Amino acid sequence: MSISLIGASINESATLKINEMAAILKAKGEPVIHLGGGEPKTRAPIDAIVSATGYMNTGAVRYTPADGTPEMKKAIIRYTEEFYDKKIAPENVMASGGAKQSLMVALQAILNPQDEVIFPAPYWVSYPEMVKLCGAIPVPAYPEDGTFYPRLQDIEQLVTSYTKAVIINSPNNPSGAVYSEEFIAGIVEFCERKGLYLIMDDIYHRLIFDGKKPINSYNYAKDHTENSKLIVVNGVSKQYSMTGFRIGWAVANKKLIEVMTNIQGHQTSGPSSVMQKAAVGAINGVQSCVESLRMTLENNRNVMMDQLNAFEGVRAYKPDGTFYTFADFSVYGKDSTRLAHLLLDKVRVAVVPGVEFGMDGFLRLSTCGSVKEITEGIERIKWALDPNSPNELYIGNRKLTRDWI
Ligand SMILES: Cc1ncc(COP(=O)(O)O)c(C=O)c1O
Repeated sequence: MSISLIGASINESATLKINEMAAILKAKGEPVIHLGGGEPKTRAPIDAIVSATGYMNTGAVRYTPADGTPEMKKAIIRYTEEFYDKKIAPENVMASGGAKQSLMVALQAILNPQDEVIFPAPYWVSYPEMVKLCGAIPVPAYPEDGTFYPRLQDIEQLVTSYTKAVIINSPNNPSGAVYSEEFIAGIVEFCERKGLYLIMDDIYHRLIFDGKKPINSYNYAKDHTENSKLIVVNGVSKQYSMTGFRIGWAVANKKLIEVMTNIQGHQTSGPSSVMQKAAVGAINGVQSCVESLRMTLENNRNVMMDQLNAFEGVRAYKPDGTFYTFADFSVYGKDSTRLAHLLLDKVRVAVVPGVEFGMDGFLRLSTCGSVKEITEGIERIKWALDPNSPNELYIGNRKLTRDWI
């Protein structure tokens, strides 16, 4: 079979794979604890459901403009005013089938083969693959001080004549780090000065803890004209617990949005009309669901930290936001894929190997689930890895005997 070079270079999504493996085991009745997920477990807002079902009941479910319905754009414009204090026109907005598609289309609109795109590590699993899909080259920036918080020089030193764009994701998947105001201000100024595109992936921007405030990149931009190369991506998936609805968006200069819309028009004809209705319902509806999710996630983060801090050998870093914890398990083996498979195989706990985010020896543990899932999940992991634990463990009435360490 003949496969394109680009097609053959694309890896399977590690997070989707672990979800699938866990789902298969669960369907067989296995007592799986899912600490691998990337979606909140709360219900979608009622305003989203009412809005979408009302539209569906008309029976007239049609194509929409490729960049989104006027109503959808209006909701995004209002959102941008409220959360970014930024006034934009409908021509500055494109709605997509998820933030993922907005990111992909933005990259397709700006990259030529061999261009380079820099992003701090650890990074979201899809960035390298998306860049590769454009025939371009992903360039991860590892913070030199070994933290999850990049400094401007970590990015600066990787810039070459091929560099076209920088992607910043804060709060960060997988580390939960919220980058400093100083860093965001610096990177906005740097990209403007160097003429680089700056893509801000703000998908987790309202899910932050400890009284921190989301950092608004527009506050540090000097160029507010239609020449600006700042692209801000967001969506309903995480904050409104609407991952399956698949609606996200990009805000950028009018010319770029026009090009992105042309691309998207040929790829998908634009996002689903039903799901745009749902997203409009969520954005314009009662917002208390976001704060209640945020508070639950902060509590879950605290529970996860208590559990991990009591886990000798594991180095845990307190996340500032999101629903992930990225912990160093390297004392139990540098090969995080092997470790993740061992945990699913032996104690039925799903986690995502750190190597997929650019850091082997780490595991990404999700805090989307219940407190019970977090505590029991970490207890099982501890039992599986710590030779000082008792030799046996009960999961329900199933007795496990540890014979692998
Ligand atoms: C950093 C980051 N950006 C974008 C996305 C994609 O979001 P969406 O579901 O809106 O496509 C995700 C989803 O996991 C993510 O973690």
